Amino acid sequence: MTSPAQSSAANARRVFIKSYGCQMNVYDAQRMADVVGPEGFVETSRIEDADLVVLNTCHIRERASEKIYSELGKVRELKRERASQGLETTLVVAGCVAQAEGREILRRQPAVDLVVGPQNYHRLPELVAKARRERVVDTEFPSEDKFDHLPAPSREAVQARGVSAFVTVQEGCDKFCAFCVVPYTRGAEMSRPVDKILREIEGLAASGAREFTLIGQNVNAYHGLDATGQTIALAGLFARAAQIPGVLRLRYSTSHPLDMDEALIRAHAENEKLAPYLHLPIQSGSDRILDAMNRRHSAAEYLDIVERVRRARPDIALSSDFIVGFPGETDEDFHATLALVREVGFASAYAFKYSARPGTPAAEKEDQTAEALKAERLAELQALLEAQRQRFNRDTVGKRFGVVFDKPGRHAGQLVGRSPYMQGVHADVDAARVGEMTEVEIVDIRPNSLSGRIVVAPSSWSSTPVITESMEERC
Ligand code: 5AD
Ligand code: SF4
Repeated sequence: MTSPAQSSAANARRVFIKSYGCQMNVYDAQRMADVVGPEGFVETSRIEDADLVVLNTCHIRERASEKIYSELGKVRELKRERASQGLETTLVVAGCVAQAEGREILRRQPAVDLVVGPQNYHRLPELVAKARRERVVDTEFPSEDKFDHLPAPSREAVQARGVSAFVTVQEGCDKFCAFCVVPYTRGAEMSRPVDKILREIEGLAASGAREFTLIGQNVNAYHGLDATGQTIALAGLFARAAQIPGVLRLRYSTSHPLDMDEALIRAHAENEKLAPYLHLPIQSGSDRILDAMNRRHSAAEYLDIVERVRRARPDIALSSDFIVGFPGETDEDFHATLALVREVGFASAYAFKYSARPGTPAAEKEDQTAEALKAERLAELQALLEAQRQRFNRDTVGKRFGVVFDKPGRHAGQLVGRSPYMQGVHADVDAARVGEMTEVEIVDIRPNSLSGRIVVAPSSWSSTPVITESMEERC
């Protein structure tokens, strides 16, 4: 016989959400799960069991949106199969492809029931109900703030997501880099009010989250109002967030060099909860290309920021994004990028082939780079960045720092967490240490993670990683 709890679980509707692209989308996907939860939708990792399928899409590069159409073809088959068993499936396309392509998605893929933009997903319950009667597109920029309409995640949902939490503090972008769709898909820059962010962090911390990544398309442009009407920049937000009980580590992503102000650089020296890690995209090392990209800074200005950040926090690990084959990029321009990479020394970085995005100024340029040349440059840059990543990892051996262990590792008795520099760390450690800052010494490196051993009790933990000579050498 089934108990009432079992039968209600068996009757629950299931939602499967797949997220593509950046951390903002991961956050949005979690909030979508939070918003449909009270409607009786339980999350499932098996798409074939889902009554509601949401693809939370990314539009930043061409392949990302093409991948969505091929994925939608597969979901269409699945939807047919479920229909043959008498099961209804609502298929939703959310995120930036939804925003950019809107009704075109309904035309290209008849199985899609609902297209919803990143500013409208707080309305998912009513939109899903409507989409069961007629096909719906909602990509308007609404007058209300979606964050005011999103329920707080349940304690169980926070715990299932682990000790690391994302919190959106800023959305949109006014920079208009010549290659980028974000200002069109995510709209104008806006900062959430300070108190709403702090309340969200408090709620997450009370449910067990310990590491917080404050995210935004242009997060260091953050300038939110506090309760007294004062404008607070990102460094001020970190100072307040660091006071919240349970907050053990703070991170942020993604930043623009123009908004790297002195206060934020100082925060790296003064705020001991702020991880010594900076993801600061530059895209190219050539001033000519930076100008054509409308980045509004030079390579020398970027290097100056790097120098100042390293002076403030000598052990800081740097990360960046690069685009190769931007229209008109010559061998000389590309070599300037390689030279900048050699000069900085990155702990990790992402490199992409330029892809023309319709509606952006760079897509209209005549001097597009040949595909084969882009591939060649990408391989060369990635090889250099990978060598730097491995060197950085090797240099971590022998260092000690705090790790907030998150979940069981591959082997019995192991837990995994992240180093201050975003590397995965595993160690033999009591499962009771999950969610505590634990001091670890790195003893070995694996291809994609570090192997550590526990050195002291958590109460004597210090947030300042030990700086070794090899690390100072690179700075
Ligand atoms: N082509 C290639 N890469 C791009 N990015 C953004 N737009 C494009 C494009 N059109 C990359 C940039 C950005 C990262 C998130 O994606 O490097 O920093
Ligand atoms: Fe896109 Fe440039 Fe804005 Fe970053 S700063 S989101 S690359 S327009």
